[in-house]
Amino acid sequence: MQDEKSAGRRTAFVTGASQGIGAATAVALARDGFDVAVSSTRPEKLSDVLEQLTAAGARTAPVALDVCSQSSIEQAMATVLAAFGRLDVLVNNAGITLQRSSLDVTQEEWDAVMRTNLNGTFFMSQQMGRHLVATKRPGCIINIASTHGMVGFLQRSAYGISKAAIIHMTRMLAFEWAEHGIRVNAIAPGRVDTPSRAGSYADPKHIEMMLNRVPLHRFANSEEIARAACYLASPQASYITGHTLVMDGGVTSY
Ligand SMILES: NC(=O)c1ccc[n+]([C@@H]2O[C@H](COP(=O)([O-])OP(=O)(O)OC[C@H]3O[C@@H](n4cnc5c(N)ncnc54)[C@H](OP(=O)(O)O)[C@@H]3O)[C@@H](O)[C@H]2O)c1
Repeated sequence: MQDEKSAGRRTAFVTGASQGIGAATAVALARDGFDVAVSSTRPEKLSDVLEQLTAAGARTAPVALDVCSQSSIEQAMATVLAAFGRLDVLVNNAGITLQRSSLDVTQEEWDAVMRTNLNGTFFMSQQMGRHLVATKRPGCIINIASTHGMVGFLQRSAYGISKAAIIHMTRMLAFEWAEHGIRVNAIAPGRVDTPSRAGSYADPKHIEMMLNRVPLHRFANSEEIARAACYLASPQASYITGHTLVMDGGVTSY
């Protein structure tokens, strides 16, 4: 089997990359020399990130993907492989959040969160695992989890439980696929200043309450998460697998 430094331009696929952490990660990987495929449920939303990837000198592939659909997952992987011929790094970033009391969560809301965050991450990883095993190539998977998957929080039970499962999935797949040279790691961010969370940044009282819980007294930005993903994707991280890197400004260090 080849090692992670083997010749040829490396390739990455970042799901849910139209904005926020996904877009920043795609651009950071392109600046590190990767060719990068990016997905959205609505590919027309990818124009900004595609422009940035091209400016960074990367070959790109825009991909339509709904991680809740197995046929969409298979089609998306086929599109990426047709474009690049190989895939070295998968970043499972696509996800949805839900702010709801556990007393009120409906089955439809629960199913939507689990199908997107948990099933989507697993079946995307399965496609990646099958590709790497079949081609006898090493590779790596990076799952974007959350500190809500590690510690309690109000009104985030469905979301937090889906992210806790992703953290354990990371260990399970790392263990199972290590013999194939596949590394599987996760990043668990605390609050990150992304467009999808902008609503909760509008209320100064809420911001103050959140910041008072963060020892570093600020939220992360998407580029910080992206740099960590680049490290985990790099040969410098070649002995790291099954790990969840917490990036929360110290919140869970209490
Ligand atoms: N921001 C935070 O504070 C924070 C903290 C911890 C963890 N995270 C995690 O980090 C990841 C990115 O967060 P973000 O704040 O950057 O979120 P975001 O802006 O909402 O991005 C999430 C992405 O997921 C995609 N997506 C949603 N449903 C999908 C589906 N069914 N199939 C395929 N793609 C789908 C969206 O794609 P479209 O382009 O189709 O809309 C979107 O680009 C998420 O997994 C989130 O849970 C975020």
